[in-house]
Amino acid sequence: MADTQRLDKVLANSGFGTRKEIKQMVKAGQVVVDGKVVKDSGMHINPDKNEVIVNGKKLEYKQFIYLMMNKPAGVVSATWDNKFKTVVDIVPDEYRYFNIFPVGRLDRDTEGLLLLTNDGQLAHDLLSPRKHVPKTYYAEIEGKVTEEDGMAFAQGVILDDGYKTLPAQLVILKSDKQSQIELTIVEGKFHQVKRMFEAVGKKVKYLKRIKMGFLELDQVLELGQCRELTDEELMQLRKS
Ligand code: URA
Repeated sequence: MADTQRLDKVLANSGFGTRKEIKQMVKAGQVVVDGKVVKDSGMHINPDKNEVIVNGKKLEYKQFIYLMMNKPAGVVSATWDNKFKTVVDIVPDEYRYFNIFPVGRLDRDTEGLLLLTNDGQLAHDLLSPRKHVPKTYYAEIEGKVTEEDGMAFAQGVILDDGYKTLPAQLVILKSDKQSQIELTIVEGKFHQVKRMFEAVGKKVKYLKRIKMGFLELDQVLELGQCRELTDEELMQLRKS
């Protein structure tokens, strides 16, 4: 990236604090650009060319950040909400200043894989209805899920608003009064998995996303935890 940007913006986007905090740090002489203490937090720098040191720590500039979260139930997939905590509220402080947002939505009571980023282009590509990025959910269902349900999902079922879903793949893990399944869908209609089961007369009791494109939920992440994607995962995701 050849562009110059305001110093306070670069530092804020790199997790050093809010713009206000950064202004104070600059005033206090804690920021050094190319060997010189600077006094103007609005000065323009090129993060790829200028060396920036804050409190002795060298800036490793990253324009974009990609986080995998194991979303817990009870938080909303949004950047702001007037009633509930959001997924952005629960990311660790070091990622707070990146202007991240969730890529798509999981219902408040849904758990599992959620990607957060500030890369609008990647988010747009992953969410584009034309791209049909597959998403796999694990679910516990009230009622006996059968092969007939699998065949219905493979052909597409009619939702309550008359929409016919694209072919989806059902794997039955346990078929009983309470069933356990995995379902892979290639679109993301509102409450889609829940409504697909309603279409075959059953109720989703628990829902967790486990996969999105090539990206799989890391088993070591506890509910509410997140971590940055590895380079490999990011590459795979871009291929999705
Ligand atoms: N389908 C649903 O019903 N809810 C989700 O959160 C995701 C998919």
